[in-house]
Amino acid sequence: MKKLPTLHKKHFAKYSQVEMTQLVLPNDTNQLGNLLGGRLMEWMDIAAAIAAQRHSNRVCVTAAVDGLVFHNPIRLGEVVTLHASVNRAFGTSMEVGVKVISENQLVGDSKIANTAYLTFVAVDDHNVPVKIHPIIPQTKDEKRRFKQALIRRNSRLHRRKIVQN
Ligand SMILES: CC(C)(COP(=O)(O)OP(=O)(O)OC[C@H]1O[C@@H](n2cnc3c(N)ncnc32)[C@H](O)[C@@H]1OP(=O)(O)O)[C@@H](O)C(=O)NCCC(=O)NCCS
Repeated sequence: MKKLPTLHKKHFAKYSQVEMTQLVLPNDTNQLGNLLGGRLMEWMDIAAAIAAQRHSNRVCVTAAVDGLVFHNPIRLGEVVTLHASVNRAFGTSMEVGVKVISENQLVGDSKIANTAYLTFVAVDDHNVPVKIHPIIPQTKDEKRRFKQALIRRNSRLHRRKIVQN
């Protein structure tokens, strides 16, 4: 039987990857037939949480969302594929990047609809943050995301400090 990604000993970035596909149904859209932003954010949160938990083997809670950009509207009947991957793990937190592709199957066209960075914290049964393994980037893209994740984390924590003060 194929091993689950969580059972791999090496913590390669690729083992955290998640691909989640949804069909946009009437209940997911506004009056204009466009996918609701909130519905897409829910799907992004779920895909990213699965990636974070796949890497950490822990329950992970959403601590922050940033860089959320809606590049293009997504229409009723389109197929949405969410790609999520842990970019970098820190002490107890990790940054997960999510990219959303929308696909119009009737014309055979697809485009990037949305991107975001979500920070998850691994917690124990008492919601106390727990240490996680560092992630190992391998490909050129993974190494770029790994490097840039630290810059984003610094500005995120800077913003947190300002808000707390
Ligand atoms: C996320 C949470 C567990 C952090 O707890 P905390 O007491 O603030 O813990 P700490 O200050 O020690 O931070 C823990 C980690 O979270 C990171 N973190 C906390 N807030 C953050 C933020 N706004 N942005 C980025 N990282 C953040 C810290 O940098 C730290 O990461 P590190 O160990 O990798 O350096 C806590 O704030 C919480 O439970 N929040 C609510 C989560 C929630 O309900 N989410 C929605 C449902 S899943």
